[in-house]
Amino acid sequence: MSKLAIYGGKIEVPKGLFIPYPKITRSNRKAVNRVLDREILWGLDTPEVKGLEREWAKYVGTKYCLTTNSGTAALHCAIHAVGIKPGDEVITTAYTFLASASAALHHNAIPIFVDIFPDTHQIDYNKIEERINGHTKAIIPVHIEGMPCDIDKIKKIARKHNLFLIEDAAQAHGALFKGKKTGNFGDISIFSLNGTKNLAGGEGGLLNTNNDDFRDRAEMLRTFGEIPERGKPRKYNAYGMGWQYRNNEMCAAFARSRLKTLDKENKRRQENAAYLRENLSDIKALIFQKIPQNRTHVYYLFRIKVDPSKIGLDVNVKKFRMKLQRALQAEGVQADEWQTMPVPGQELFQMMEGYGYGYPWTDVHTRKRIKYNLSEYKITQKLLDTSFVMHSALCYPNGKKLLKHFVNAFHKCFENIDDVLKVDTSIPLKPIHGRR
Ligand SMILES: Cc1ncc(COP(=O)(O)O)c(C=O)c1O
Repeated sequence: MSKLAIYGGKIEVPKGLFIPYPKITRSNRKAVNRVLDREILWGLDTPEVKGLEREWAKYVGTKYCLTTNSGTAALHCAIHAVGIKPGDEVITTAYTFLASASAALHHNAIPIFVDIFPDTHQIDYNKIEERINGHTKAIIPVHIEGMPCDIDKIKKIARKHNLFLIEDAAQAHGALFKGKKTGNFGDISIFSLNGTKNLAGGEGGLLNTNNDDFRDRAEMLRTFGEIPERGKPRKYNAYGMGWQYRNNEMCAAFARSRLKTLDKENKRRQENAAYLRENLSDIKALIFQKIPQNRTHVYYLFRIKVDPSKIGLDVNVKKFRMKLQRALQAEGVQADEWQTMPVPGQELFQMMEGYGYGYPWTDVHTRKRIKYNLSEYKITQKLLDTSFVMHSALCYPNGKKLLKHFVNAFHKCFENIDDVLKVDTSIPLKPIHGRR
């Protein structure tokens, strides 16, 4: 048995083998240089922004795409586009990034949360209907971790109750449900282009729709509440509330050049995930996400759950996860935390101070009817307590050369499990998305 790296033993993963994401290529650099050479950095109808919108609409298969300066902004535009108003309620999953819910707050609307399925990590569609009331206007399902949620079932619920469907596909560029790309199922859908995402632009967002009216309303919110008229001088007249949510030329050019390799990179993520699943399958204490039939996962995140009882250990599962995670990190393995609590557990939702005076929860429609009770999101909390994630380790150009060391490190830890159980959980974890 070899000594664990956390106690001074040899580090399993050789330094420099792990390539951080995104690996910037010559054609990515050329794309950004093209913008600098052209000397057009911003504007309403600039070439890279227009090009990205055209190409992403084609890639997804929708009539329109608008690009914004973040996924959060795209979601806010979508919420406005379908006509959600102050005090209206939108339903989303408790296991997501804050923005799936806070974009509604930006519009003075109220997010309502639903717990998840423990095996797929996706919103539990059986619990959606009990959250619907006369104030509910939309469902925002999230294709979390890059795997499509059961969008057919959710769409059926939305249609039955006359609700809009806004797909949060921020983590699921190119993922397929029944062979069709995410972003095609909602009245509107959104994606994020931040630097960690499968399609990285640095920062930015994308909004897709087939509906002319939704597109125009989204564009209005994106542009200060003005109605841009193509080819005519700007009137500087805002018709409603709006923000400055435009994307910029350099991020758009970068994203366009990455779009050319998105499918190839997604394929590498899938191969890497399959390799890890196969080569770690003998460690019975590790549990992998269930992928239902007809879903193509693009692995924005690869989450691994632990269950020490499967190897006969009667220990606290959360503590076990924390110890194993630190031992793995010391070996050079990516084993990070992404989210530590259900979104409604965050202080924003527990204190409900919002914009001040408790808005938007205290507005005339809502009057503090809502309370975010943590006992309703136990499955999300359990998932986060008992698992960790890999992300950039699965990304191109990383492959078997790196992952075989990860597999060795896992085996090393489980062969020395008594030593893992002694790991000090106060050792700080490495930051997620940090370069190592
Ligand atoms: C599920 C989800 N929705 C929305 C967003 C918001 O995207 P952005 O960071 O581009 O604003 C993110 C970003 O991490 C996300 O993961």
